[in-house]
Amino acid sequence: MSEDPQDYAISLDKVSKEYPAHGKNDAVTALREVTVHVRKGRSIAIRGDSGSGKSTLLNILGGLDVATSGNVVVDGWDLGAMSEAELTRYRAEAVGFVFQAYNLLPELTASENVQLPMEALDKPRPDRSARAQELLASVGMTPRARHKPGQLSGGEQQRVAIARALANDPTIILADEPTGNLDQRSRRAVIQLLRKVTVEFGTTVVVVTHDPSVAGSCEKEYRIREGKLRWLADHQPVDPSETDEDDDDD
Ligand SMILES: Nc1ncnc2c1ncn2[C@@H]1O[C@H](COP(=O)(O)OP(=O)(O)OP(=O)(O)O)[C@@H](O)[C@H]1O
Ligand SMILES: [Mg+2]
Repeated sequence: MSEDPQDYAISLDKVSKEYPAHGKNDAVTALREVTVHVRKGRSIAIRGDSGSGKSTLLNILGGLDVATSGNVVVDGWDLGAMSEAELTRYRAEAVGFVFQAYNLLPELTASENVQLPMEALDKPRPDRSARAQELLASVGMTPRARHKPGQLSGGEQQRVAIARALANDPTIILADEPTGNLDQRSRRAVIQLLRKVTVEFGTTVVVVTHDPSVAGSCEKEYRIREGKLRWLADHQPVDPSETDEDDDDD
């Protein structure tokens, strides 16, 4: 049976990234011929040491940086062939970003933070507000919708950030160490949410993580070393609804 390229949300073929020499700094090869295909609605985890190329890979997938060579296609968008304006549209429409440091705007409420990406696409205000309510409900944050980030715990802020990442119904969520600053309980909530995103919304998730429980909640686990990506393991993540809240694994 042949594989239909349409089934892939993400196709990377021999993607390399070189940062050119700059003044006294030598050139850095951050990615070396990375090839990986991710089906729609699946999740992958990427692990690797500091400086191995994880964020570079996410930045290229998210249209924040461009590959030096190779092909990057996300949901039909051929990133290497796009203008700056097209990349901006791609980021707004197709990508949701989740960061270790949450990156919510401190002066806005949780609901306003979630609505921000929709403003970029000029969605009408009542629609934005309704969608934000719906998303905050799905991450269990309805009671905190009017709180500002400073009035929320780290885990709560990350749940709002995930709701924000989902605002424009993206094809892919890119998460860079999303549980890096969280305690065990909040980590579990974030893991369950990322899982729910793939199962319920069909979003494809790429997560960079040092956290074995995050990696284990993704269908595939890769390791990146000196810019080379290789497959490490397949997992069979449990359905979020089946996860036992009281079950402690570390
Ligand atoms: N803008 C840049 N200019 C030059 N070199 C860079 C640039 N950004 C990253 N690098 C280099 O590319 C390599 C990969 O960096 P990257 O940020 O992708 O690592 P990482 O795996 O995300 O590390 P960490 O776990 O510390 O976040 C590193 O050697 C880094 O120094
Ligand atoms: Mg990084």
